[in-house]
Amino acid sequence: MSAALDTSGLSVGWPGHAPVLTGLALRLAPGERIGLVGPNGAGKSTLFATLAGLIPPLAGQISVMGDLLPPATISARIGVLLQQSEDQLFCPTLAEDVRFGPQNQGLRGDALEARVTRALAQCDLSHLSDRPVHHLSGGEKRRAAIAGLLAMQPEILLLDEPSAALDLRSRRALMGLLARMPQAMVIASHDLEMLLDLCPRILLVDAGRVQADGPAQDVLSDAAVMQRHGQEVPASLRATGRASPVAIGQRG
Ligand SMILES: Nc1ncnc2c1ncn2[C@@H]1O[C@H](COP(=O)(O)OP(=O)(O)OP(=O)(O)O)[C@@H](O)[C@H]1O
Ligand SMILES: [Mg+2]
Repeated sequence: MSAALDTSGLSVGWPGHAPVLTGLALRLAPGERIGLVGPNGAGKSTLFATLAGLIPPLAGQISVMGDLLPPATISARIGVLLQQSEDQLFCPTLAEDVRFGPQNQGLRGDALEARVTRALAQCDLSHLSDRPVHHLSGGEKRRAAIAGLLAMQPEILLLDEPSAALDLRSRRALMGLLARMPQAMVIASHDLEMLLDLCPRILLVDAGRVQADGPAQDVLSDAAVMQRHGQEVPASLRATGRASPVAIGQRG
């Protein structure tokens, strides 16, 4: 079966600057959830910007379900939640913002309204549908951006810090929602407990490349690897912290 998302020899970075991450061969199976971890500036958001077609790859290829994407193509098949909610909220009201994406995809009438109503309800925002987006709180904006993304029903979700700014109840609700989503997704986050809950596989990036790729429990509990790359073993794994064989830097 084709991978949901497949990259080969992918290098990402900003025009006129040195590459941020190189040699990425990332294969995301249909329905798979990968947690993307790495210190500030490691390149998580840059990778998402490239996969979402917002900046061109410096090298390499990206395919979705076996279809090669031309460089810097914004594809409706890949939905991205940007790190800053303000970067993707721009309509006068919340409902208009959530409606914008599916309307742009050609959806009209009752089908469009049903899509909007459902996405708002999924993110517990129905009561705020007429609110100007700039009058929402930080956490409400986060949920508004997620609602806009879900309304487009992309095949692949790239979520950059989805739990940032959310209170504990909203974070828990988001985790339940994401756990029920059928799409393949990559979640970049410093919320390692959330990743442990949601993502069977973790990719750790630092210093320009993938440093570890393996089962979440193994990567996140490897104190030496985590420390080397500016991370801490999450509290829930500390009691069982153990060495693991997944650190790519230590192979061969
Ligand atoms: N628009 C830009 N132009 C040039 N360089 C940029 C731009 N945006 C980010 N960078 C640089 O690219 C590198 C990777 O940044 P990126 O935002 O991808 O890191 P990140 O892993 O998402 O970090 P964080 O955990 O802080 O979100 C950093 O050195 C950053 O300064
Ligand atoms: Mg980032």
